[in-house]
Amino acid sequence: MSYMVAEQKLLNRIVIKLSGSLFKWDTKASDLKDIIQFCKELKAKGIQPILVAGGGEVARHYISLGRSLGADETSLDEMGICISRLNAFLLISSLKEFCYPIVPKTLDEIAQSVESGKIVIVGGLHPGHSTNATAALIAERVGAKLLINATDVDGVYTSDPKVHKDAKRLRRVTIKKLTEILMKGKMNAGAYDLIDLVALKIIERSKIPTKIVKCSIPNLMDAIEGKEVGTTIQI
Ligand code: UTP
Repeated sequence: MSYMVAEQKLLNRIVIKLSGSLFKWDTKASDLKDIIQFCKELKAKGIQPILVAGGGEVARHYISLGRSLGADETSLDEMGICISRLNAFLLISSLKEFCYPIVPKTLDEIAQSVESGKIVIVGGLHPGHSTNATAALIAERVGAKLLINATDVDGVYTSDPKVHKDAKRLRRVTIKKLTEILMKGKMNAGAYDLIDLVALKIIERSKIPTKIVKCSIPNLMDAIEGKEVGTTIQI
């Protein structure tokens, strides 16, 4: 019987990587209120959201300043982690009793925090990758049924749509194809692109159902309801 309860809890966990583009210098409270309300509604429907806040332009500003001052890449990653945790704490402070009250800083702490049944919000964990990899690791650790990378583009394109006008959005993409596309990008602090290679490895080994969508409430809802949206990673 207790096994059934545990299984039920497991099936309802969804990890959402929240685009850093939500956290800008000029972000207004109204920009974040929708996502806060959305999390409460998911919770009321019996779904436990685990949010991973990105670092956004504030993180990139610190990383760029630090790089100009001669900081090493690990220290720059750590600055990005600090800012993503600050973004996570901002949401926690608004969600109050609906949310686990602190930003967990390790996978163990995250595993413990999800047992509260509350919404859990984290930032980055380790240097060397982006919050996308963090989100994949968390999804693996907590047995999430879905991982959503809510980003600032509406899916994976055959090439960079900002540069190539004829780039096409892929509805589905294999890990192999996505790896090929990503290998053309950078792997530095503040620049891990759409999804990083570490994240792909985790998704591949644990076969976590994953969608990449543009960060909006309707898109998140469609992804959760299994509707066609963004790009689905074929596993
Ligand atoms: P992200 O690059 O993941 O934030 O983290 P973002 O702004 O959400 O990125 P988008 O929206 O996907 O473009 C900011 C930086 O923090 C460091 C990295 O340097 C990363 O680029 N970081 C973050 C880590 O080193 N480890 C983590 O676990 C998370």
